[in-house]
Amino acid sequence: MKSLIIALALVAAVPFPAHAEHRTPRDLRELAYQNGIRIGSAVDIAALRSEDDYRKVLNREFSHVTAENAMKWESVEPERGVFTWGDADALVDNARRNNQKVRGHTLVWHNQLPAWLTTGVENGTIDAAELRDILRDHVTTQVRRYKGKIRAWDVVNEVVNDDGTMRQSIWLTHLGPGYIADVFRWAHRADPHAKLYINDYNLEWNAPKIETTLSIVKDLQAQGVPIHGVGFQGHLGIQYDYPGDWANVMKRFADLGLEIAVTELDVRMVLPVTPEKLATQADYYRRALTDCLSVKVCREFTVWGFTDRHSWVPGWFDGEGAACLLDENLAPKPAYHALLTVKKA
Ligand code: G3I
Repeated sequence: MKSLIIALALVAAVPFPAHAEHRTPRDLRELAYQNGIRIGSAVDIAALRSEDDYRKVLNREFSHVTAENAMKWESVEPERGVFTWGDADALVDNARRNNQKVRGHTLVWHNQLPAWLTTGVENGTIDAAELRDILRDHVTTQVRRYKGKIRAWDVVNEVVNDDGTMRQSIWLTHLGPGYIADVFRWAHRADPHAKLYINDYNLEWNAPKIETTLSIVKDLQAQGVPIHGVGFQGHLGIQYDYPGDWANVMKRFADLGLEIAVTELDVRMVLPVTPEKLATQADYYRRALTDCLSVKVCREFTVWGFTDRHSWVPGWFDGEGAACLLDENLAPKPAYHALLTVKKA
């Protein structure tokens, strides 16, 4: 009896990852747990509501979720003062029931803005002072609604161009560059515990964008603005080289005290699918997770949809697709199996 108690005490004293690393995880949720991160997916709310197999796989595999479209401004306030939270609420409720953390996407973007807002700004019925009030109310209302339920917000999305200049948007044009500090402050006031992120694409490799984003972060920090993380969207394609310096780029942001997340990873290919292309795709996914795990503060690894049945890629890139971990029938592709082999060094 005594030896049994000692044996049990010894087992209990060993932290889970130390002994779990010897066996291959059975799914992404276990992989994430073993490596001390969260693995997430963007969620198509229509599919979540209507497809049982989609919902089952999402809830089994993923411990983090992002609304693909349901939290964007045009979705939550299609008419001025008319809020439609149903889809966003459904995502947050499903996440709570399935032990998933949530990334809020996105508070301030130049895309998917409601027509009442863009038209009003264009025709001058909304002036700069009113626009600032509208933005503050939007950020405050949305963050407050989900206070305590969102782990991290993409506060500003895609604010830098590929050439390193600031993106022209109604925000920059009418409010000036100070709007970025404002929205972080407003979001922080509305939910002081949420991690607040700057999020962008091509940030994995594009030098001008990297440098400008680093200086935005430093500038915000110098002003005492609450910014906590940087999101690398990670929309990759196998026809382009893998961004081989990505881990170093992550480290540069981590050195500023930020946490890191891969927020929208997918790896598209020119169709048709071949075994060779799937192997290359698997390698890209594997390297992306390896890069994330090489940085201590990489907390989240999120894919932009987990099945080729629901992916933005074919609608946006002519002749391209098959960018996800699972095929249209939800069968795991080589990329899925490749991820399961990744271990923290
Ligand atoms: O809402 C209308 C709906 O009423 C209509 O029936 C339907 C018919 O096509 O269109 C619907 O709008 C579409 C919307 O997704 C919601 O499904 C738009 O046409 C379509 O353009 C829009 O695409 C989204 C895109 O952002 C818009 O920029 C993609 O689904 C979404 O995956 C994509 O996500 C972005 C991230 O937010 C930011 N980073 C890049 C990423 C990929 O572009």
